[in-house]
Amino acid sequence: MSLTRHFLIRTYGCQMNVHDSEKVANLLHHDGYASASSENDADVLIINTCSIREKAEHRLYSDLGLLRAWKEERSGRVLGVAGCVAQQEGDAILRRFPFVDFAFGPHNLRLVPEMIGAAQQGQRSVRTDEAADLARFDLPERHPAFEGQTPGRAYLTVMEGCDMFCSFCVVPNTRGREISRPAEGIVAEAISLAGRGVREVTLLGQTVNAYGRHDLRRGRAEIAGTVAFAELLGRLDAIEGIERVRYTSPHPIFYDEALIAAHGKLASLCPHVHLPVQSGSDAVLERMRRRYRADDYRALVERLRAARPDLAITTDLIVGFPGETEEDFRRTLALVRDVGFVDSFSFKYSPRPHTSAAELEDVVSPAEAQARLEEIQTLQRGLTLDYHRSRVGQTVPVLVEGGSRRGAGQVSGRDPHHRVVNFSVPREPGPRPGALASLRIVEATPHSLIGELQDSTSPGRAAVKPERRRADGTGRSAAVEG
Ligand code: SAH
Ligand code: SF4
Ligand code: F3S
Repeated sequence: MSLTRHFLIRTYGCQMNVHDSEKVANLLHHDGYASASSENDADVLIINTCSIREKAEHRLYSDLGLLRAWKEERSGRVLGVAGCVAQQEGDAILRRFPFVDFAFGPHNLRLVPEMIGAAQQGQRSVRTDEAADLARFDLPERHPAFEGQTPGRAYLTVMEGCDMFCSFCVVPNTRGREISRPAEGIVAEAISLAGRGVREVTLLGQTVNAYGRHDLRRGRAEIAGTVAFAELLGRLDAIEGIERVRYTSPHPIFYDEALIAAHGKLASLCPHVHLPVQSGSDAVLERMRRRYRADDYRALVERLRAARPDLAITTDLIVGFPGETEEDFRRTLALVRDVGFVDSFSFKYSPRPHTSAAELEDVVSPAEAQARLEEIQTLQRGLTLDYHRSRVGQTVPVLVEGGSRRGAGQVSGRDPHHRVVNFSVPREPGPRPGALASLRIVEATPHSLIGELQDSTSPGRAAVKPERRRADGTGRSAAVEG
């Protein structure tokens, strides 16, 4: 029998959480662990939690209810809880669930091997200290075990934390204060990723385009090693092998001229932004403490589209925020229609602990909130389908992700606009995951595009950059405009 210990991480929540799980997995690989194919094979199980809405938090408690049996099934098993619920409720989780060995927050990923070691000695631990230093960005390079997991793509942390304190949101409490990583480390990581065949990086931060803002304002950017966000994008664009750059999630108030212009200039910068708006009513936006008005958002969209006419914009929306009237909600519908979002994630407002909106009165009834949610989702479905139809006939480079949900012989990937494109492979071998395939869009469905394979390039540094600058300097891909 092999002595290698196996781990499994179950992840909920946003891309930051997905990437935190990757970082923990990386640490464990470096520590000699192997990943388990199922919970049955796992010696160590970590649940990486999300606390954004009540439902997300409850998922942890229902999971834990079932995991007592897992823990007791085999001696020596270790169970840990990570993420935003752990940060918020660390001690309480250990008190309530005596079979949980440890809990730790997003600032303490590096301590996982140590906490597992302690658990094996019978010691339980909670690590939720907030680290204000940059040490948490210093993690080991990607272990070879990562190769092939998300071929051609990688997340790249540029900043962490959030200082915005929108009145509905737990994130400033769970992720702590904003801190930006020095540009040099980000660029070095991107170069290393490119060397391993990564073509697309997604820059991560809770308010990613606030990158470096505190350093800049305090006149200490040079000491901190940060630069303006647009400048960072320019440096990444210059890296050989990095063909696509995305960033998520930006906040509308942190767009400056340079960042808007970058969308027209940088060939690697994808023509998609996920730009959460939350509401189309100024009164609601004010109570949400979003710091912009609906017309500011509209104006920003116009400027972005002036820089990059084919930009696809997606968003997040909250319905049923305290005090939201029918009139407020109509304003949100109007904004969704005016902007013509390519897609949106809409949520019913959920009161969260230690947030100021939780104190607001005049709550919207659950039935009303549900009706609004359905109305906005119906509107969005129509807009998404319209957008998909407008894309039929174009030829686009698609970064292949793998088998499609549509079944055998069906492959799926994403185009520069971040839309899912499904296609069938006429003969094996088709383009491998991580390859860029040229596809002609032949059909639109409500959730994705259907394409026909034209040709493909295989992954690797030697590959040409089909999306690089055009001779006319517009930086746009001819295929996308075609
Ligand atoms: N940092 C991003 C959002 C992160 S949370 C930003 O600033 O836009 C992702 C989305 O969850 C938010 O955009 C919001 O639409 C939703 N959300 C956050 N808190 C919520 C709450 N209390 N109830 C319902 N939805 C919420
Ligand atoms: Fe939450 Fe607002 Fe920060 Fe986004 S900007 S993470 S919604 S507090
Ligand atoms: Fe959830 Fe935390 Fe992300 S609350 S959305 S996992 S920052």
